[in-house]
Amino acid sequence: MPARRRSDEGENLSETTPEWILAGRAFVRGRLQPVEIAIDRVGRIQSIGKIRTGAPRRDVGDAVILPAATDLHVHFREPGGSAEVESIATGTLGAALGGVTLVGDMPNTAPAVTDADLLEEKARRVAGRAAVDVLLYASPSRPQALDRLARVAGAFKVYLSSTTGIPEAPTLDAVGELLSRLAEFDLPVAVHAEDPAEFRSDLLPRNPIDWDSARPPRAEKAAIARLLPPPPRLRLHVAHVTTTDGAERLRAAGVSFEATPHHLLLSERTGRDARFKVNPPLRSEGERKTLWEAFRRGEVPCLASDHAPHSSESKALPFARAPSGMPGVETMLPLLLAQVRKGQLDLSTLVAAACERPARWLGQPLGRIAPGHRANLIVVDFTARTRLSGQALHAPCGWTAFEGWDAVLPREHYRDGERIVENGEFVGRPSGKVLRPEYATGASG
Ligand code: NCD
Ligand code: ZN
Repeated sequence: MPARRRSDEGENLSETTPEWILAGRAFVRGRLQPVEIAIDRVGRIQSIGKIRTGAPRRDVGDAVILPAATDLHVHFREPGGSAEVESIATGTLGAALGGVTLVGDMPNTAPAVTDADLLEEKARRVAGRAAVDVLLYASPSRPQALDRLARVAGAFKVYLSSTTGIPEAPTLDAVGELLSRLAEFDLPVAVHAEDPAEFRSDLLPRNPIDWDSARPPRAEKAAIARLLPPPPRLRLHVAHVTTTDGAERLRAAGVSFEATPHHLLLSERTGRDARFKVNPPLRSEGERKTLWEAFRRGEVPCLASDHAPHSSESKALPFARAPSGMPGVETMLPLLLAQVRKGQLDLSTLVAAACERPARWLGQPLGRIAPGHRANLIVVDFTARTRLSGQALHAPCGWTAFEGWDAVLPREHYRDGERIVENGEFVGRPSGKVLRPEYATGASG
């Protein structure tokens, strides 16, 4: 990409003369086609087509230009976590290298993000340290803090069962009331849907198969049933759906939801140790396959990583005592791009689930190669394959449940028209910002 040109010329210029042009086969209007993408001075896509101008031009050759992805579900562990496991700086770096241009960071930190002051403190940690943009979720667990919190948060996350950093969950009876209250704010609301009343504590889990029995699919089913129908106006989204039963109910109700790469590609028998311990649990091979088939048919609206790293030491504890969660932000898109290369998944289905719908749910002009959208784009060379290794990835925890899996890592990543990744290396500045949905009251991002 050419260096950014400083210009004193009038504002109109940005509408007429592009800053530069990215040319190649691009995913535009639902399919790959040869195009030229004109990018303006503020890093927005200005026009698409044959562009007659002397502006600098970059041709990506046989590679493919895609919109960069949005991962609406990550845990970067700040504040209160160990930088040896993850931080906003390292987490956003992994995101940039994995083709993810916006992350939604969850509030189950220490302390949890339950009021406006805590949210603003976390926003200050993003400034000058983030490789990509960040949207901050808040936990609505303190009713008296909600009004102020809703004016600064990017979204809400509701946990229906206790989890890392969130010791108490609202009772399922109180959930309806909480959701009605949250519907008063113009913010997205994601829910971790597992009903603890359906958990089994009489069993000492020793492996992922036991974990699936301890937090069975019916716990998800019961929790989803409680969420439906959602209050009118609520922008509801259900995190990490693991069953086709759940997926079908949510689809029928028109509610957004996500599936993770681990629930789509791994089952309870893939590995026996606590690296494969995650909430909700990995399911049976049969359940995984039917969820994957639904994803392939485009029936799962969003892909999200639930990137939840823990140290190797804590994962080496006896299974019952080890924490739940696995890293995934850097590998989410590369793993699924490898499925596209193998002919197992349509590129259009992947782009809709990984780029377009998550950005729309979070109210961002991202995820589509369309005029007016931000020029946050990736360049993918499907002939370059990588074998994943925890050591080579950027999450400091140093491991992945996808060790040895085939992946297609983006060759380039552009943020607002500026190159931040080149040949798999981060070459940008840590200029990621905190964003809020464009539809949110008083949104500035
Ligand atoms: C998450 C974590 O470790 O923060 N763990 C997980 O297994 N998904 C918490 C959560 O999202 O429940
Ligand atoms: Zn999570």
